[in-house]
Amino acid sequence: MPKYSFTLNGKTVQVDAPGDLSVLWALRDKLGVTGPKYGCGINVCKACTSHLNGKAFNPCVTDLRDVAGKDVTTIEGLAKGDQLHPVQEAWLEQDVAQCGFCQPGQIMAAVALLKRTSNPTDEDIDAIENVCRCGSYFRIREAIKAAAAKMATPVAGPAAGGPSVPDVAPGQLPATGPGVATAAAGAAALAAAAATRLLRDADETEA
Ligand code: FES
Ligand code: FES
Repeated sequence: MPKYSFTLNGKTVQVDAPGDLSVLWALRDKLGVTGPKYGCGINVCKACTSHLNGKAFNPCVTDLRDVAGKDVTTIEGLAKGDQLHPVQEAWLEQDVAQCGFCQPGQIMAAVALLKRTSNPTDEDIDAIENVCRCGSYFRIREAIKAAAAKMATPVAGPAAGGPSVPDVAPGQLPATGPGVATAAAGAAALAAAAATRLLRDADETEA
């Protein structure tokens, strides 16, 4: 059996399988990486969307032999350690997911879009072809715009001349300091997003 080697989420991996095995099955069945979802297997639903050399691709219709020596990133490789990607943060703040099945692909498509254009229009966002059977499109649009705004705003911190965050032991919260303010602001933002969603859902139910 041939062996194919490529970089997956920053690490070199090797898969012992036929060259025409789809990358989706190599990821899911051979490597145990299940973030990319199987929806159609024919490049229609886009649930499997991941990145190949930094661009969106659909592993369900890509042969294993075609990623040899290349750089594959799945949703599992988006965060940097404990630091979520701004698109992932925006997704949580906007409470985008419903059943969640399509969401890894939606997020990877959104990240690829924001690499191409930092300030996407509604038309740019509508051009994303990822299907959501739960109809979370409105919240996806809001999250992409929120992520674009986040990514355009420099992060305040010591390196940027902002306040330093105190060291905190794992499992403990600081009693005072900017971490507390950030956590409170984050909780308030999440509560506001949840309230907005409840109101919107109520409006949609009445309509
Ligand atoms: S599984 Fe539907 S496009 Fe890949
Ligand atoms: S959240 Fe259910 S399919 Fe998109």
